[in-house]
Amino acid sequence: MAQLDYSLFIVTVAAGEERAGCLVGFASQVSIHPPRFLIGLSVKNRTYRVASAGANTLAVHFVPEQAEELALLFGGETGDEVDKFAQCEWRPGPGGAPILAGLEDWFAGRVLERLPFGDHCGYLLEPIDEEAHRSGSPLTFRRAKWIEPGHEP
Ligand SMILES: Cc1cc2nc3c(=O)[nH]c(=O)nc-3n(C[C@H](O)[C@H](O)[C@H](O)COP(=O)(O)O)c2cc1C
Repeated sequence: MAQLDYSLFIVTVAAGEERAGCLVGFASQVSIHPPRFLIGLSVKNRTYRVASAGANTLAVHFVPEQAEELALLFGGETGDEVDKFAQCEWRPGPGGAPILAGLEDWFAGRVLERLPFGDHCGYLLEPIDEEAHRSGSPLTFRRAKWIEPGHEP
């Protein structure tokens, strides 16, 4: 598994007045018909806590190579200590999930199932809204390894 590489995403969520988001590598399309996508959130992350506090929509942003600054903010900082959303531009999207201004390719997914896998929880998503601008090559796990996760995995 240590040899694998994957595209990175920034997943955001809102529950009531709470907002959260983090950089995610555990993410994959898992069905074509119907379209389904799976996200793995570490149970230690604030994003997981907000996602489990009644949120039924996650926004999944594609992270292109040139968006390392946002990757560092969302992967290297935890919302337990800093307000990430005070440090970037965003607008409320479906279900209140923040849509990040710097990332043009995203979809919002309705949470169909929560699957306890171990130290990560799976969120099975049904896409309900999206914007696609084809913003280039993805930032990948290996390229972003220099980012020290804001929370222990
Ligand atoms: C390259 C990379 C990949 C990561 N992949 C995941 C992941 O798949 N799932 C996850 O929950 N956290 C992942 N993280 C960790 C979180 O992005 C990080 O701990 C973040 O600071 C958590 O923020 P939060 O506490 O505000 O939710 C990854 C971090 C990096 C640097």
